[in-house]
Amino acid sequence: MSNYPTYLLDRAKITDAHTLAVAQKHGAYEALRKVLKEGISYAEVIRVVKDSGLRGRGGAGFSTGMKWSFMPDPVTDPRPRYLAINADESEPGTCKDRVLMEQDPHGFLEGCLLSAYAIRAKVIYIYVRGEYRAPYNRVLAAIAQARAAGLIGKKILGSDFDCEVWMHKGAGAYICGEETGLMESLEGKRGHPRPKPPFPAAFGLWGQPTTVNNVETVFNAPFIVLRGAEWFKSMGTKTSTGNLLVGVSGHVNRPGVYELPFGVSCREILEDVCGGVWKQRKLKGFLPGGSSTGVLTAAFIDTPMEHDAIKQTGSMLGTAAMIVMDETACMVRAHEIIARFYEHESCGQCSQCREGTQWLHQIFHRIEHGKGRMEDIDMLVTLSRGMAPAKTICALSDAAAIPTLAAVQHFRGEFEDHVKQACCPFLPAGTKRPVFAGAH
Ligand SMILES: Cc1cc2nc3c(=O)[nH]c(=O)nc-3n(C[C@H](O)[C@H](O)[C@H](O)COP(=O)(O)O)c2cc1C
Ligand code: SF4
Repeated sequence: MSNYPTYLLDRAKITDAHTLAVAQKHGAYEALRKVLKEGISYAEVIRVVKDSGLRGRGGAGFSTGMKWSFMPDPVTDPRPRYLAINADESEPGTCKDRVLMEQDPHGFLEGCLLSAYAIRAKVIYIYVRGEYRAPYNRVLAAIAQARAAGLIGKKILGSDFDCEVWMHKGAGAYICGEETGLMESLEGKRGHPRPKPPFPAAFGLWGQPTTVNNVETVFNAPFIVLRGAEWFKSMGTKTSTGNLLVGVSGHVNRPGVYELPFGVSCREILEDVCGGVWKQRKLKGFLPGGSSTGVLTAAFIDTPMEHDAIKQTGSMLGTAAMIVMDETACMVRAHEIIARFYEHESCGQCSQCREGTQWLHQIFHRIEHGKGRMEDIDMLVTLSRGMAPAKTICALSDAAAIPTLAAVQHFRGEFEDHVKQACCPFLPAGTKRPVFAGAH
């Protein structure tokens, strides 16, 4: 097992760390206390976070300090402002925010409060995936404990900082994890993403300045404030700093959520951390960052898990949710399942996405079920090129198209075998794939 310095999951491993007493004994709220007692300005908090190089952990990897600095100056723009925490975590393969909320809810709340302080928000909304009952209950209980201890509410720790925290449960729609869909949903409307610009910092919740941040992103903030930008930059790579939570699922011996510095190789994650491919089989391919990142072949296993290196392969780091597939996996079947997910989750506002996701699913389905034609393979490519990049209101269309393009690029032979043999070559003789309800 690799031995790197850790901080994100340290408290989570302590028994009863979800209670305020234990969490505080192990350092929770120290950074908030320091900022408020020493009168460290919001500008200084933004500066140190910017200098640290922290990038959003929700998938896009945008600079957090930069995002915070986009919030307007309250002197010239005195409108109310909000921090919305994205705890929707619905990307297939991703399950890291859940661990932080469930195991260290006070560390998470401290991150929320410090982030709100930096952008001068007095209200925080935490938007939690509807199915996340345990994390929801843990954070709700932590809010009550923190409020009773004067850590949430008016004049926090005797300072001039007022901040309220509210939680909101989603209803199971992936699209409500897209930041503008999330805001629409919080406002009580359908989770339909908004065209951008205007961006949330100018026109967010109820038209007011808003910052949307992922759970793991804000979780990093107290550590950076306490230990400094240089400490943070001592982990990871030049452009991807700090540690990140890597969630590994699929055909591995030890799936799980692991804390690692950016830049460790995918091989190290697979072999050293997760004990290798299960059942002594060979690696066929892997999705490095969740279902919306393009599949890579085993030849890419030495790629460092960090933004730039993964981008060079043509894929994306996404949420660092590595999905591993062994030699028995059928890439057509895997992508049929992915396409079905995006078809189901498209909100339907953009024709490229609404129609494109349906067609992708339909074509994958017929190739997998022995009714494909050779021209279908190029049709998948043509369709995907019509859906991405950045052709629609939000990136869900890209999320469906990009994995399709990667699958055809890296595994075309497998698609052709399906067509030639008029069946899935990976199915044991005499068996049939189950057909999903609603499949074409
Ligand atoms: C379809 C779609 C779903 C998304 N789902 C999530 C999600 O569940 N959690 C999340 O943090 N970000 C999600 N995002 C990214 C958010 O839009 C946004 O970039 C992120 O919350 C910003 O936080 P960060 O800067 O801290 O990473 C999604 C984006 C898209 C296009
Ligand atoms: S890209 Fe898809 S999910 Fe996003 S707004 Fe358009 S139709 Fe809706």
